[in-house]
Amino acid sequence: MRFARSIGVLVAAALAATGTARAEQVVKIGVAISLTGPAAVYGATQKAGVLAAVDHVNKSGMLKGVKLEAVIEDDASTKEQGIAVFQRFINKDKVAAIIGPTLSNTATAADPLAQAAKVPVVAVSNTAPKGITDIGDYIWRVSLTEFQVIVPALQRMQAKLGFKTAALLYGNDDAFTQAGYAVMKASLEHTGIKIVGTQTFAKPDRDYNAQITALKALHPDILMVSALAENAAGIVAQARQLGWNVPIWGGNGFNAPAFIKNAGPAAEGVYVGTAWNKVSPDKVNQDYLAEMKARGVDPDQFCTQAYVGVLAIADAIKLEGGKGTREAIKAGFAKVKDLPTPLGLFSFLPNRDGSHPPSLQQVQGGKFQIVQ
Ligand code: ALA
Repeated sequence: MRFARSIGVLVAAALAATGTARAEQVVKIGVAISLTGPAAVYGATQKAGVLAAVDHVNKSGMLKGVKLEAVIEDDASTKEQGIAVFQRFINKDKVAAIIGPTLSNTATAADPLAQAAKVPVVAVSNTAPKGITDIGDYIWRVSLTEFQVIVPALQRMQAKLGFKTAALLYGNDDAFTQAGYAVMKASLEHTGIKIVGTQTFAKPDRDYNAQITALKALHPDILMVSALAENAAGIVAQARQLGWNVPIWGGNGFNAPAFIKNAGPAAEGVYVGTAWNKVSPDKVNQDYLAEMKARGVDPDQFCTQAYVGVLAIADAIKLEGGKGTREAIKAGFAKVKDLPTPLGLFSFLPNRDGSHPPSLQQVQGGKFQIVQ
């Protein structure tokens, strides 16, 4: 009897040990973000979002038996480094999924490696409409595209302000800024606003006076700019220095507090579409804000999208019965529907792009404020 009981205890202990081992199943997520280079202003905040979400998921107990672990690497805002990081994630770290890279430009070069290796990728900041999710069926995206954000916002503002003419300025050496320009051009034309002039610049440029002077002479009602945050701040500051007070509308690259900080008072009044309505009273958003505050983080759109990228992976694992393999995560993504997130109810569309409500914001009093 005593023997039987001790056997029973041993068996129970062994089962508990097995249970513990199962509870410790670690699912590695490779996170390729720009911690250096021209997109470093986005990468720092993306890192905070990923780390917060991983803690959130692990503490919530929503993935019984699975623990998420983020392996964070710098893609240096370049294609070359993005490829190197993806190779490491796929072959050495053997991650179950990849978040990133920060720039669409890097994604066009790195994502095909993940597609070929059948590793699911979730983009959390790539906003070029084409050339990302159409790489293949392992490439998914949380971040709304320029098309999804700019088109509805421009139509709404046009109804309010009645612009008749516009000028365009864009970076011609980057997949995102080029794509953003194409969306701006198409949506202006679609909205019946005449484009009176177009100028370009490149990422290393710091002097935009020639382009601004040329566009100013055409007296457009609005200036739309497709630029990453560093260039965006310089463009806006120089336009105001030249005494040009035209309303300025920036693409997703403007959507970083660093843009406001670097442009200074010149940023006042600038319009920027956004995927995140930071003042949404929705409980999930309010809980998120409280959670970030407790971590000492002042989140922006990039931080929030990175957070939601992790939530999407966690939901996919849950939907696949707790399986954290590459194939399970890819299969689970297809089932993510109306997931409550700080961005609103989030779903993946059949083309693997994300879907949730967009918003518009304007810089007022040195901060992004949602245009209601
Ligand atoms: N939205 C920017 C891009 O897609 C960061 O590259």
